[in-house]
Amino acid sequence: MEKTFYIETFGCQMNAHDSEKVAGTLLQQGYNQVETPEEAGYVFYNTCSIRDKAEQKVFNRLQHFKKSAGKDKIFAVIGCVAQQEGEKIFDRAPHVNLVAGSASYTRLPEMLVQLEAGNKRVTGLSLDNSEAFDTPFTRRDNPHRAYLTIIEGCDKKCSYCVVPFTRGPERSRTSASVMEEATRLADSGRTEIQLLGQNVNSYRDPSPAGWDFATLLDRVGSIPGIRRVRFMTSHPRDFVRPIIDAIESNRNLCSHVHLPVQSGSTSVLKGMQRLYTREQYMERISWMKRARRPISITTDIIVGFPGETERDFEDTLELLEEVQYDSLFAFKYSPRPNTSALGLGDHIPEEEKTRRIMILNERQRAIQIRRNSERVGAVEEVHVEGRHATLGQWIGRTEHNQTLNFSGRDDEALLGHYVPARVTRAGPNSLVGESVNQADFASVL
Ligand code: SAH
Ligand code: SF4
Ligand code: F3S
Repeated sequence: MEKTFYIETFGCQMNAHDSEKVAGTLLQQGYNQVETPEEAGYVFYNTCSIRDKAEQKVFNRLQHFKKSAGKDKIFAVIGCVAQQEGEKIFDRAPHVNLVAGSASYTRLPEMLVQLEAGNKRVTGLSLDNSEAFDTPFTRRDNPHRAYLTIIEGCDKKCSYCVVPFTRGPERSRTSASVMEEATRLADSGRTEIQLLGQNVNSYRDPSPAGWDFATLLDRVGSIPGIRRVRFMTSHPRDFVRPIIDAIESNRNLCSHVHLPVQSGSTSVLKGMQRLYTREQYMERISWMKRARRPISITTDIIVGFPGETERDFEDTLELLEEVQYDSLFAFKYSPRPNTSALGLGDHIPEEEKTRRIMILNERQRAIQIRRNSERVGAVEEVHVEGRHATLGQWIGRTEHNQTLNFSGRDDEALLGHYVPARVTRAGPNSLVGESVNQADFASVL
């Protein structure tokens, strides 16, 4: 079998980062990466199981290769669908040769040896692995910013969610190991780090140092060379005041918090087992609204959870108006295997879910148009990530995680730099601006 691989990634940033770990390991083992599955000897799908549609994607891909030229290839299904479905995947797609969940990627070299030896059914499904972070070969795609896992798994039991089954129990990484990787990233020229975990704020250093999340955040943000630290995702229940204090006191911590609310109705939140009420959630929001520098807030919402009444849905719409989110992701509830919400009655018809999600997205769009138009005239610091040649614009991101494309500095190589830009136009999802000189920026800070 030719030692070439193709990898396609579905799902969240945790999965995107896992693919960097897997690709790095494969490269280190002497495999070469190719751009299409057709060219590859080994085809990897790093899968997501969060909603049914996401799960179906991998089976559609596999189906395609069953009929066409897939005979001489090794197929590997890894990630959350692999962990959830396990060996059942071999029954459903007999041409699959490897099924492995995220906790087993450190065992990838030995699993590859088995595949190379002709073993047609290789699995890595144990969740019992404390070394899951130990990935010396991670191949990072972006030279300016990097993901860094601080906690794996999830101990919450939200009634709709597969993650506790697909990623196992919570395991925090030692602070020394996080600091060591962050320092290495800074030394390699990366200035922006995104700390990752399903629930970053339940981070608890397992070593005697015993750092909590706020301490870790502050220390990573104090590493020389690091300009921006982001983190994702925060659970409202574990979101404590010291996190805001850290953001307020350390300028390198981005003033953006993604705080998924899921619903604005306390009774729906109870059915979801989210462990907070609307009022408790709003208390966290009020901390952020009162912070010394503006913190942008984004969220996730599920519409059509079993038993969600029109009144519950209106509570969610009212919450949007109250919070004024900078952006959000809305999802239609999707029943998932193993989850306790499966046992709840009163499922909402698909058309009704569609109606609700459309209303919700429309309301949020209006909020974003209004909020973004208020930014016109403001000067923002932009981390430059790319160049839009045809538009003659640089592509960048503000510390609030908003896209801001700007013109006016065509002659210099700005990639990876931090550049002040004045907002000249605003759309619902992004801002457009022009560069200003550093002195103008200093005067508005
Ligand atoms: N750990 C994070 C995010 C988990 S998954 C948290 O607790 O918020 C990302 C988002 O997918 C969730 O916030 C939720 O809005 C959505 N989601 C999870 N399970 C879902 C399901 N069964 N149906 C629809 N959306 C779901
Ligand atoms: Fe899923 Fe809830 Fe854990 Fe988030 S906190 S990953 S929604 S179980
Ligand atoms: Fe999907 Fe797994 Fe992430 S289910 S959202 S890839 S943790």
